[in-house]
Amino acid sequence: MKKLLDLLTAEMGQAFAAAGYDAALGKVSVSNRPDLCEYQCNGAMAGAKQYKKAPIMIANEVAKELQGGKVFAEVNAVAPGFLNLKLSEEFLAKYIGEMEAADKFGLEKPAKPKKIIIDYGGANVAKPLHVGHIRSAVIGESIKRICRYAGHEVIGDVHLGDWGLQMGLVITGVQDRQPDLPYFDENFTGEYPAEAPFTISELEKIYPAASAKSKEDPAYKARAMEATFKLQSGVRGYRALWKHILNVSVADLKKNYGSLNVEFDLWKGESDVHDIIPDMVKYMKEGGYAYISDGALVVDVKEETDTKEMPPCMILKSDGASLYNTTDLATIMERMKLYHPDKLIYVVDKRQDLYFEQVFRCARKTKLVEPETELKFLGFGTMNGKDGKPFKTRDGGVMRLENLIADTKEEMYRKIKEGREMSDEEAQAVADIVAVSALKYGDLSNQASKDYIFDIDRFTSFEGDTGPYILYTIVRIKSILAKYKEQGGDLEVAKKALCAAENESEKALQMQIAGFNAMMETACEELAPHKVCAYIYDLANAFNHFYHETKILAEEKAERKAGLIALLMLTRDVLETCIDVLGFEAPEKM
Ligand code: ARG
Repeated sequence: MKKLLDLLTAEMGQAFAAAGYDAALGKVSVSNRPDLCEYQCNGAMAGAKQYKKAPIMIANEVAKELQGGKVFAEVNAVAPGFLNLKLSEEFLAKYIGEMEAADKFGLEKPAKPKKIIIDYGGANVAKPLHVGHIRSAVIGESIKRICRYAGHEVIGDVHLGDWGLQMGLVITGVQDRQPDLPYFDENFTGEYPAEAPFTISELEKIYPAASAKSKEDPAYKARAMEATFKLQSGVRGYRALWKHILNVSVADLKKNYGSLNVEFDLWKGESDVHDIIPDMVKYMKEGGYAYISDGALVVDVKEETDTKEMPPCMILKSDGASLYNTTDLATIMERMKLYHPDKLIYVVDKRQDLYFEQVFRCARKTKLVEPETELKFLGFGTMNGKDGKPFKTRDGGVMRLENLIADTKEEMYRKIKEGREMSDEEAQAVADIVAVSALKYGDLSNQASKDYIFDIDRFTSFEGDTGPYILYTIVRIKSILAKYKEQGGDLEVAKKALCAAENESEKALQMQIAGFNAMMETACEELAPHKVCAYIYDLANAFNHFYHETKILAEEKAERKAGLIALLMLTRDVLETCIDVLGFEAPEKM
């Protein structure tokens, strides 16, 4: 379906042409003076010079062409030459009626659907998820859903940090606790135990202890590096132990991501490309891209136009070890080979900006990607505490994601219990659902690249620009619809009864609905979940305003009542579609 603004522009263009002017002047936009009109066209001003005519004269002629038309109820030419427009209520109702009947509310499929891989999450094995990981997960998941909804083929990959020194540290930590395990016995030839020698909570203690020790004790660090080397070079016992670390950790990660409705199609990690690194290095050397500098293997990525420092991209350290770079480049090579994506999107902390610039340039220069493959770094800002510094626990430690979620659920539970008749159990279940919206909306409603302040009190509030406010609106609609059914109304019949708006607030609601497909298209193009948030906040406000001004269940004329119910259903469906692409859901009651 055509977007509403495009239809209005087409209508206006025809009027310009009929009056003898260039149709391209008929561009219609949403009014920036909503007190005067709903839409506007400034084409007469733009055409004045070309036609050597006063803009108001052009505007008057165009307005005349539009009198009696079906699209606009009012067209006013006002000095010095604006065209102020009001939409016909019938036309608007017909438009949103078509949206209701169409697939995806009439959102058009992209002319050329893309295959997109989104690299997000970025959890590190054996380390608990902390608040630093929440943004990548929440934003990445939403972008995945938005692009999918818009009609692209999208693959989400968690890209685990599962291969570096942290693995050597954990292995060394395990060895200190249980030196007699068969994994450390070089002469062991039997089958290794199927059961992991640790639980997730043990694992989570082993890593920080080992990491702290390695910072104080150089000999310990050397052991950890040795263990990392042995693991990477394929020592059997180390690989087997590592598999256990991976399995125990991934099971826990799945649980935590799951509690935030975050799901990945691929659970690949840095380790998955280990075996192709030698081929990539050979290719880069043979292609003449990589050379030795101070013992290390590097690729120059500087460009003439650079104004900032752009160090070469290091592929191998002087001891032959690979780096974070190396695995990212090899992963690009592998992704191209296995999936041949049109676009790769990385949802990572914006402090890795320069790093990704180097990696992307290197991938292009060495032709790991096609010239037309898009490489996009979507860097996000920091989640801060009220003091404006990165969010910490009360005693200044790193906040675990699990605890952050638990705290939000607790606060939500408190607010839900306040002034509501609900059993503890039901309140808890509702709080669990609503808390996810509080956290996610609190994050997603900010432009991703900006820092934001995590304010649990504000995020969990039922009023204002918050997730719970949006859910509350949906639940309110659902309860009216349920009552309509109780009164004997048939929702399936009512669905088709959409009618022309009879008052301002009803029309405003319909216009807000009509903007859905333009909004979704932009949110996808710009990878901007905050645009979906801004849209549903306006939609929820428009609905609540309408609700306070309009008799719905008390409406006497059955046909009109059914029409209002149809509008409610459409509002609910659009809101629910939007929260789904944001990655949360509404309860039945709250
Ligand atoms: N594991 C990394 C971290 O915790 C993030 C990975 C980001 N993705 C990537 N392809 N480098 O910082």
